[in-house]
Amino acid sequence: MNVFITGSTGFLGGELLVDLSKRKEVDKIFCLVRAKAGEKAIDRLKKVFDLHGDFIDEKKIIPIEGDLTQNDLVEYLSTHKLLGDVNVILHSAADTNFSSIYDDIVEQINIHGLERILKWGKQLKNLETFTYVGTATICGMDIKNRVIKEDESPNESVKHLVKYTQTKMRGEIILHTYLPEEKILIVRPSIIMGDSRPWVPRSYVIMWALAAINLLRLVPINPNAQLDIIPVDYASKGIIALLFSKRKYSVYHVSSGAESASSPLKATQAIEHYFPHRPEFNFVGRELIREIKLWARKKLNGNSVLKNYPEHLNYWDDIFDDATDLRILMGGLEPYLDFIELGQTFDNSRLLEDTNIGLPEPAHEYMKRSAHYLDKIDIFAAALAP
Ligand SMILES: NC(=O)c1ccc[n+]([C@@H]2O[C@H](COP(=O)([O-])OP(=O)(O)OC[C@H]3O[C@@H](n4cnc5c(N)ncnc54)[C@H](OP(=O)(O)O)[C@@H]3O)[C@@H](O)[C@H]2O)c1
Repeated sequence: MNVFITGSTGFLGGELLVDLSKRKEVDKIFCLVRAKAGEKAIDRLKKVFDLHGDFIDEKKIIPIEGDLTQNDLVEYLSTHKLLGDVNVILHSAADTNFSSIYDDIVEQINIHGLERILKWGKQLKNLETFTYVGTATICGMDIKNRVIKEDESPNESVKHLVKYTQTKMRGEIILHTYLPEEKILIVRPSIIMGDSRPWVPRSYVIMWALAAINLLRLVPINPNAQLDIIPVDYASKGIIALLFSKRKYSVYHVSSGAESASSPLKATQAIEHYFPHRPEFNFVGRELIREIKLWARKKLNGNSVLKNYPEHLNYWDDIFDDATDLRILMGGLEPYLDFIELGQTFDNSRLLEDTNIGLPEPAHEYMKRSAHYLDKIDIFAAALAP
C-alpha cells in the first residue's frame, strides 16, 4: 500500500504518520509538507518522529514539498513521478482556527485545498480509498445534550458556531461530487485533547483551554455538560484501525461516546489537587462571561453578581499583571465554552463494531498523567489564535 498523507506535521497527522509507518502493509508514505521558515520538509518530518523517539525510515517516508493553497498543486502532484502508484490518500490537513478573523484562510485550506487534493486523487489509476479526516462537530449547534449518530450529518441547514466546522461539513459533501461512495472513508473524531501516554503531547491544542479554565477557577459553564473528548493516540489508532478493517459503513465517529464521556466537573476534579494554591473551582452561569469581561475592563458595576466571588476576584488581581490578559483569555476561550455547553456526545458503536480498538479512557482519567504540563502552556499565545 502506498499512502499520500496531508497534515502530517500536525497534532493528529503526526500520530497518524508515525502509526502508519509501523504497519507492514504500507510500502511508502508520501507526505505533503510545507517548508516553513527555511526549514526543509524532511527536517520537519524528522521532528515528528523525534518527539517520542520513533524511528524514521527515510526509504519509506518521503516528503513532497507543497502547500494546499498552491494554485498549481493539481498539476504539480499529477506530474510528480513518485506519486503515480498512490492507492490511499489520508487527508488530515486543515485550518482548525475558531476565530472569525481567520475565516478566509479556513475557507481557502479546508475547501479549495481539499478540492485540489480531490482533483488530483480522482485521476489516480489505483486509488482505493480517500480517507477524509472530518470532525464530529459538523452536526452544528442546534443539537444539545444528547448522543448524536453519524447519519445525522452532514445537514446543510444546521447552524454552526464557527466557520471551521461549517467548512468541514461542506468538505464531506464535496467529496461525494468527486469520488464514488466505495472509495470514500470519512472519519470524524470528536474533540482531541492531549495524549493518554505519560509524555509531552504533540500539541497543546484544546489542552490550552483546560489550562485556561484551570487558571481562571471561576468558570462560566455547566459543570455537568457531557464532554466527548479523546486522546490523540486513541484518535490515530481508531483511524488506522478503520483504514485496515472490513468496513460496513463509509462514515465513522472516532469518539468517547456516552460511556467514556467526561464533564467540566470531572475534568477539573481530576487536576485540582495538582494546584493546591489556587482557589477551588467554582462554576457559574454563562451570563457571567459578560461580567468577567467588564471586570477585565475595570467597568464592573458595584452590584454585579461577580462581586459575590471576592476570593476569585482577589486572586485574579494577583495573577493578572494587566487585566487585558483576562480579556484576551476570555476572547479565545469563549468559542470553547460555547462548544462545551452544547453537551454533545457522539455515538461510537460503528467504530467499536468494525474494529477491536475498544473504548477510550475517559479524559478525566488520562489527564491525570498530563496535569503537570498544564502550567507549561502559554495560554495567552493560544488565546490569540484559538
Ligand atoms: N484537534 C482536534 O480536536 C480535532 C478534532 C476533530 C477533528 N480534527 C481534524 O483532524 C485534522 C487534523 O487536525 P489537527 O488538530 O492535527 O490540526 P493541526 O495540528 O493544526 O495540524 C494541521 C496540519 O495541516 C497542515 N496544513 C495546514 N494548512 C496547510 C496548507 N495550506 N498546506 C499544507 N498543509 C497545511 C499543517 O501544516 P503546518 O505544520 O505546515 O502548519 C498541519 O500539518 C483536521 O482535519 C481537523 O479538522 C481535529
